[in-house]
Amino acid sequence: MRVVLGVGGGIAAYKAVLLLRLLREAGHAVRVVPTRTALQFVGRPTWEALSGEPVTSDLFEDVDQVAHVRVGREAELVVVAPATADLLARAAAGRADDLLTATLLVARCPVLMAPAMHTEMWEHPATVANVATLRARGVHVLDPDAGRLTGADTGPGRLPEPEAIAAAALALVAGPRHDLAGRHVVVSAGGTREPLDPVRFLGNRSSGRQGVALAAAARDRGARVTLVGAHLDVPAPAGVEHVAVGTAEELGTAVRAAAADADVVVMAAAVADFRPAEAVASKIKKGAGDDAPVVGLVRTPDVLAGLVADPPRAGQLVVGFAAETGDATGSVLDHGRAKARRKGAALLVLNEVGAGRGFGTSDNTVTLLDRTGEVVAGASGSKREVADAVLDAVVARLGPDGGVGAPH
Ligand code: CTP
Repeated sequence: MRVVLGVGGGIAAYKAVLLLRLLREAGHAVRVVPTRTALQFVGRPTWEALSGEPVTSDLFEDVDQVAHVRVGREAELVVVAPATADLLARAAAGRADDLLTATLLVARCPVLMAPAMHTEMWEHPATVANVATLRARGVHVLDPDAGRLTGADTGPGRLPEPEAIAAAALALVAGPRHDLAGRHVVVSAGGTREPLDPVRFLGNRSSGRQGVALAAAARDRGARVTLVGAHLDVPAPAGVEHVAVGTAEELGTAVRAAAADADVVVMAAAVADFRPAEAVASKIKKGAGDDAPVVGLVRTPDVLAGLVADPPRAGQLVVGFAAETGDATGSVLDHGRAKARRKGAALLVLNEVGAGRGFGTSDNTVTLLDRTGEVVAGASGSKREVADAVLDAVVARLGPDGGVGAPH
């Protein structure tokens, strides 16, 4: 396999030397792409001698070979270690000011980044946001180890051990992870907005991150992916077909159209259950008195229920989501079980929300229920990890051939 090893400019660059050896010993061709600062820590001869390949940092070396495009295109796996705060920021911003960041923009293969920096930098909101952005795009960002840092300081920020990085990186491309090849997966994501008048709408707090992570995970597992996105806070992943929608009705139409030849439909979107009975053509005015207008609501079609009751393709596997809070009438699990039975989807991903959980965060904790309300799995971690756990359960329920599976 062709691996690109990106090396950021941090003291932990010396550990990337061991990582390079491990990848080489595992039989992979490794092209090392250090940043210019990384070469202050470990020099070019070391990388060239151990990789047996030329080493460049800048876009203007090897111009005749168009290295910034070729290196990324040929890569089957990109591992960045150490990923410094600056490198994470440049990658999150989509910069392409050196060979490594240009390679990251071009590459369509799995990408793993192993951060290393001082604790304050790792915990700074800018870095937290950059890591969340990268994860939402499907980049695998490892959490750094806690322990001794460069000086006397200790805390989270240490580069994970080279063996752990190599294992995590190779797991991304190994074995069963191409288990959705030949399948068409439709994912709805985000939150619908129902217009009230030309400037106002009824909406919800869904960011679309979990659905986008599902789309990226399905793509990486070999599926053709259609992402029906309603007002996503994060960009749609590269390599998936993105259909942008606004209202519940538009989402329903787009999902059904895409689902006509889909093996799997994952309804991760937060779809409005009600919309204003009429969207007023001109802006609603306060008027003179204190009277507030009364907005009449009507039900929107339940897209998930429609897919279960009248599947666009026989035997299609439908996955629903349920965002629940516990209340006086029952726990989150009680409500989830009842919804799983009511909705009848092959799988229901139960998500506890409220108190800072679920919406807009980069991590998630879910319980997967089957249509009888039985718990089939639990998952916790980044939205990408949760996405892979959901897809594991999906794959376990798909039929063995290239067609759709038998209904479960
Ligand atoms: N959903 C849908 N169409 C709607 C509303 C919801 O397809 N009009 C889907 C969502 O995408 C999600 C699942 O249904 O996969 C759960 O949505 P939720 O609103 O929690 O379910 P409800 O049955 O409306 O439950 P509640 O009584 O809690 O509102």
